[in-house]
Amino acid sequence: MEKLGLRYEGKAKKVYDTDQSEYFWVAYKDDATAFNGEKKGQIADKGEVNNQLSALFFEEIEKAGILTHYVRLLSDRDMLVRRLDMIPLEVVVRNIAAGSLAKRLGVEEGLVLSQPVVELYYKDDELGDPLVNESHVAAMGWASMADAKEIQALGLKINELLQGILVKAGIQLIDFKLEFGLANGKVYLGDEISPDTCRYWDIETREKLDKDRFRRDLGGVEEAYQEVFRRVKEVLTQA
Ligand code: C5P
Repeated sequence: MEKLGLRYEGKAKKVYDTDQSEYFWVAYKDDATAFNGEKKGQIADKGEVNNQLSALFFEEIEKAGILTHYVRLLSDRDMLVRRLDMIPLEVVVRNIAAGSLAKRLGVEEGLVLSQPVVELYYKDDELGDPLVNESHVAAMGWASMADAKEIQALGLKINELLQGILVKAGIQLIDFKLEFGLANGKVYLGDEISPDTCRYWDIETREKLDKDRFRRDLGGVEEAYQEVFRRVKEVLTQA
C-alpha cells in the first residue's frame, strides 16, 4: 500500500490518498485541541495510543457484525481505512452526565442517567457543532431518516459493546462520540474511538482517564492515555 498526497489534515489526524482509490491512509497526530480549537497542545505518544486503541475497538465492533472503516494497522501511528462519504453528524452516547450535558441541564457531573442518552450534533467548526435533532437532519438533508435512525441505533449497540470491554478493564464509560459514513450504500463506523473522543473514569477511584485531563489542566495526561490502552489491550488479548 503506497501513501500518496495529503488529502485532509484534521485536528488529530492526517488523511492521505493511497494507490487504491477506495482506501485512505490515516496518520494519527500528537496534536491536541479543545473547546473548538481555542486550546491547543501536544500529548506525547497520543497518536500511537489512539491509533492502536481504536484498532482494538474497531476489531471488536466488526466481530459484532457492525461495519467499520478499519482495514488494518500500517504502523504504530498509521491505519488503513475504507474511504467513506461522511455523514456530517456526530453521534454522542452518554451513560453518566458530564461535560456539555451536565452544563446544559444544570445537573452534577457524575449523575447516573436512568437510560443511555443519544444526541446528534451537526459537524461544523464555525458553528461549534450545534446540537440538532432528527427533524433538523430531515429538513437540512444531512442524512436520510433511515440512516439517521441507524446511526443512533448503532451508537447504542456500540455503547453496550464498549461498556462490556471497559468494565473488565476497571473503566466506566461515561460518554463518547462516533462518526459514520456511507460506502456501497451501507453505513460504516468511521473516525476513531480513543481517550480523545470518550470519557473514561476509573471504576474504583473515579479518576478521569481521558482528554478532560488536558481540557481541565489536571496533569498526568500522557499517563492516562497509556493506562487506558494498557488495560484494554490486556483485556482483549486475554479474551
Ligand atoms: O463536550 P461533550 O460533553 O458534549 O462531549 C461528549 C463526548 O463526546 C465526550 O466524550 C467528548 O470527548 C466527545 N466529543 C468529541 N468530539 C467533539 C465533541 C465531543 O469527541 N467534537
